[in-house]
Amino acid sequence: MKKILVTGGCGFIGSNTSLALLEKGYELLIVDSLVNSYQIVIDKIKSLCFEKNPENTNSIKLINCDLKDRNALEKIFKESNTDGNKISAVLHFAGLKAVSDSLLDPLSYWSSNVLGTINLLNVMDKFECKTLVFSSSATIYGINNSKENLKESHYKKPLNPYGMTKETIEKILINLNSVEKNDWRIAILRYFNPIGAHTSGELGESPKNTPNNIMPIINSVASGEREYLNIFGNDWNTLDGTPIRDYIHVMDLADGHLKAMEHLFKSSESNLVTVNLGTGIGKSVLQLIHVFEEVNNISIPYRFSSRRAGDIEYSVADNQKAKELLNWKPNKDIKDMCKDSWNWVSKNPNGYSDK
Ligand code: UFG
Repeated sequence: MKKILVTGGCGFIGSNTSLALLEKGYELLIVDSLVNSYQIVIDKIKSLCFEKNPENTNSIKLINCDLKDRNALEKIFKESNTDGNKISAVLHFAGLKAVSDSLLDPLSYWSSNVLGTINLLNVMDKFECKTLVFSSSATIYGINNSKENLKESHYKKPLNPYGMTKETIEKILINLNSVEKNDWRIAILRYFNPIGAHTSGELGESPKNTPNNIMPIINSVASGEREYLNIFGNDWNTLDGTPIRDYIHVMDLADGHLKAMEHLFKSSESNLVTVNLGTGIGKSVLQLIHVFEEVNNISIPYRFSSRRAGDIEYSVADNQKAKELLNWKPNKDIKDMCKDSWNWVSKNPNGYSDK
């Protein structure tokens, strides 16, 4: 079976995707610096996979490596080639992802995200492994003044250094693919708002730094760690005054990666596809809170505060391309997302940190 290298495979989306790949029978090499993730994730993936499928003898191996270290990366590819099963594709999740941190420390974001990716691409090129699935983000789209769902062709104007690094990497990948007679096969996946957790409650989001995203904050209110949720503005031009987002279950995202990779494997020629991964359904902050309260039977106190700098009113995917090209569709709805998020947190109140 093919060997896949997953960068950032211990992270929230990387770990759920790694489990899906292992269950499908792929052999996995996880490369992770563990700066914002935990090694224990590998044991969780293994036991979840082998519990369900004991005859699966495929392996998953973790290598602790930062993509900024090009020599270490070269060594990984070199050693992988000597065991007779070359790396067939790379799924590239590794990177820094907190919008607010990127405003405070942009250089770290350019180094980890862009330099890290350039190192990865150089090494892939050298070892002739040219199939890549890249984690991009809906954050690269410019402000959407209409209430239309965002198509991949929507203009790009990221508002923060994090988004700018993602846009820059997309441009590098487009350059690679524009070279005449190139043999790169690349999928750029633009995620909307990933939430939820693996349905087992064993794999979820466990940020090492203080979270800024809404679902970890709702969970901390639910667990009593925080008194209430601050809603950033109720004066937006939406049904209830709070911003609309396209929340997507992490297991659906994982499936999107699998389908994108297998789509690339089927292309005989060089190829570059850019695809939104979202449900196509928008929910306001208040709607999200109310669904969470209903499915988990927990009250989430909230207060309104002023708008957060850089927030936008409406961000929902047009996911037609993913459906047609990748034969992908989201299978889980907002209730599943809220239920699975809380199931993970209630089973693991400290995330992975005490494991
Ligand atoms: N929100 C609150 N209170 C909070 C946190 C968030 O009201 O304490 C609101 C925000 O104003 C926004 C919504 O909840 O309306 C979602 O906010 P998140 O921070 O969870 O997500 P964003 O849409 O702002 O950004 C996220 C990721 C980015 C990613 C982007 C993709 O943080 O990395 O989605 O569109 F790029």
